[in-house]
Amino acid sequence: MEKIKISLGSDHAGFDLKKEILKYFRDKDYLVSDEGTYSLQRSDYADYAKIVAEKVRDKVVDKGILICGTGIGMSIVANKIHKIRASLCVTEYMAEMSRLHNDANILCLGARLVENNQNILILQKWLETEFEGDRHIKRLKKITLLEQKIQKNFHPKKN
Ligand code: RB5
Repeated sequence: MEKIKISLGSDHAGFDLKKEILKYFRDKDYLVSDEGTYSLQRSDYADYAKIVAEKVRDKVVDKGILICGTGIGMSIVANKIHKIRASLCVTEYMAEMSRLHNDANILCLGARLVENNQNILILQKWLETEFEGDRHIKRLKKITLLEQKIQKNFHPKKN
């Protein structure tokens, strides 16, 4: 079976947790690409959210993980990108529901809100939970329709 590909990014506030997550993945069957940041030097979450979200959108990877201090900045940016459903999760329950009901394709974590070991549990839950499909499909389709409408308004057809 092909390995699941994951793109992982953080700003400086998420740098330590990103290191822990890379350790977690060491003996797991995933292909993880580390998109930075690579030090504790101040950086801007928008840069990493863009890289990861575009890779998910373009299907270069299957899923994305983004970390900043609160996870809020990362989720705001990632959700601007077409086809992205980024979920900021601070509990395992949120992680589970964001996969079951929302088919979230990016997980955002808040390194300053939640202890590293708890964030790892949230990540684990998120990775192991499959989308439920069923009644949730039509709800996701409404998101896609909204995105298409916004895109049309952004690039209006010239008559
Ligand atoms: C950086 O200080 C902090 O603002 C950032 O990591 C994030 O929490 C933004 O949402």
